[in-house]
Amino acid sequence: PKRPRVLSGIQPTADSFHLGNYLGALRQWVAMQETHDAFYCIVDLHAITIEHDPKALRRRTRAAAAQLLALGIDPERSILFVQSHVPEHAQLCWVLECLTGFGEAGRMTQFKDKSARQGAERVTVGLFTYPVLQAADILLYRADAVPVGEDQRQHLELTRDLAQRFNSRFGKTFVLPEAYIPKETAKVYDLQDPNAKMSKSAATPAGLVDLLDDPRVSAKKIRSAVTDTGREISYHPETKPGVSNLLVIYSALADRPVADLERDYAGKGYGDLKKDLAEVLTDFVTPLQQRVRSYLDDPAELDKVLAHGAERAREVASRTLARAYDRVGF
Ligand code: ADP
Ligand code: NA
Repeated sequence: PKRPRVLSGIQPTADSFHLGNYLGALRQWVAMQETHDAFYCIVDLHAITIEHDPKALRRRTRAAAAQLLALGIDPERSILFVQSHVPEHAQLCWVLECLTGFGEAGRMTQFKDKSARQGAERVTVGLFTYPVLQAADILLYRADAVPVGEDQRQHLELTRDLAQRFNSRFGKTFVLPEAYIPKETAKVYDLQDPNAKMSKSAATPAGLVDLLDDPRVSAKKIRSAVTDTGREISYHPETKPGVSNLLVIYSALADRPVADLERDYAGKGYGDLKKDLAEVLTDFVTPLQQRVRSYLDDPAELDKVLAHGAERAREVASRTLARAYDRVGF
């Protein structure tokens, strides 16, 4: 039987992915290779919807590719590519923009949040049409499934609406994608402020663990994480958000159920948990960073991998675009 096809993208907006990106998204990318026909896209077109530095973008795009490969994305099994290498994304985006209502786009809550943070005079039209480009990403590959967190649900709904609208106006062309909720997805919180999600734009750098940080620095951040009152090591996200966050991270990295950890740490202190988690994290990132370095040290090979991915992606994307262009009368 044919495997369902999945498409997912990530922006190259930092030099390193952080623990939240990994445990909340990229770990599932690796796992979905077993069950899905996977298309993974480094979305550099999306990354320029806010002001950016070209040198940094180029460096971060390569760093993203190196990290994805080092984390276990297999470029033979999956199609790993950079969005700007496949011009069909921008081409289909235009067609879809012409099907999107101005008011409809204006209702996207992520746009409202992002534009409120930036101030009206700096908000670009690209930021406004960001979700339409996302729709193009998904529809070009006729993806059946798109892994989505809460914050992306509205964008996936727009994608489905646009696919349906196109199909009913011009004839069946696009597949309607379904939201895919991966089983083992973890939300990671800021180590210093466990009620806020871990984010690269976090107010507290000590609360953020980047995968490419010096492991000694990360170990120290874990050991200095904010914990809760009381002494018991138990998973209670409402009343013990700090300890619960550490347990979730530990469980994911060590691949052990939280309940097992609670049993192991019964009668022990927060210090023991943090010390062990710091070790688990160090054991995870040390070989990972070696692999990342070896990919970055061989730029010609990295370029070859990405060119191969783009070529395979284009085979699919160009067929879908040709069909869509034909349908609209081009
Ligand atoms: P950031 O919040 O640092 O800007 P992005 O918004 O670029 O990260 O997120 C990229 C991916 O990582 C998305 O799939 C997002 O849901 C996931 N992600 C980001 N932060 C976390 C987190 N703290 N916990 C779980 N998943 C996260
Ligand atoms: Na974000």
